[in-house]
Amino acid sequence: TTLELIGAPTDIGASVRGAGMGPDALRVADLPGMLARLGFAVRDSGNLAGPATPWAAPQAGLRHVDEVVAWNRSVYQAVDSALGAGHLPVLLGGDHCLAIGSISAIAWHVRQRGQKLRVIWLDAHTDVNTDTTSPSGNIHGMPVACLLGHGPAALTGWSGEQAAVAPDAIRFLGIRSVDAEEKKSIRAHGLQVFDMRHIDEHGMRTTMTEALQDVDDNTHLHVSFDLDCLDPDYAPGVGTGVRGGPTWREMQLCMEMIADTGRLGSLDVVELNPALDVRNRTAEVAVELIESLFGKSTLVR
Ligand code: ARG
Ligand code: MN
Ligand code: MN
Ligand code: MN
Repeated sequence: TTLELIGAPTDIGASVRGAGMGPDALRVADLPGMLARLGFAVRDSGNLAGPATPWAAPQAGLRHVDEVVAWNRSVYQAVDSALGAGHLPVLLGGDHCLAIGSISAIAWHVRQRGQKLRVIWLDAHTDVNTDTTSPSGNIHGMPVACLLGHGPAALTGWSGEQAAVAPDAIRFLGIRSVDAEEKKSIRAHGLQVFDMRHIDEHGMRTTMTEALQDVDDNTHLHVSFDLDCLDPDYAPGVGTGVRGGPTWREMQLCMEMIADTGRLGSLDVVELNPALDVRNRTAEVAVELIESLFGKSTLVR
């Protein structure tokens, strides 16, 4: 497999500046070299271009929606052509609004291939706000709603269907910050949320067994990895960190169990904010976890 790295250096959907430096921080932490040493062909496509972040106030419940659309168009195109070339796309964000373009392109290809899509959403947040429910107007809190076919028209329907992803195709892990209106939406859609209490009570092993249930040979697994999923003690370099997340060890097991399925088909790495990091530690932790996600093991190979 050829892994295609696609940088999207923007903080357009966030409320805190700095996620635009994420792609280069991951390169400095030697993400490409690590993947090559694991035995993959790696093609770094460099960084996409897009509009600067105006840091304007939200309008009609949305901050920077035109610029978010522009960035996501580029992401959609790049992920689409990576998949068209038979590559495994790795989107290097940038903030989590970019999952709209990324996962919409993936959903289109998965449908063409007659495969089933399963999205593993690793995050402290469920990101299921819309323009009418968001307390912030920040679109990085809305990608899941957009992918479910809700929210602003400009950001829905990109996969060729109103909903890129069905509610029962998503599993959320590490959740510990959900806004009041998001709770209603989670219930209304029947979303499967493995929150921190679930991980505390059942452990990461049981939780991942549940989250990966029914993944079969015809499943395309997409991992959308928001680095604020990790406990901020391990990953301080994020804009919207929340105490009480999984430890480095727990996240390693999560990644290893995903790798064991052999079905990983695409990846987003988002919300890394080098401006808030400590000597690039969060980027290095991300690289260590991605190494496990792509199959590094202690005793084999
Ligand atoms: N729920 C909050 C909001 O809608 C925070 C979202 C944080 N999202 C993220 N991708 N870090 O503003
Ligand atoms: Mn988050
Ligand atoms: Mn719906
Ligand atoms: Mn997120």
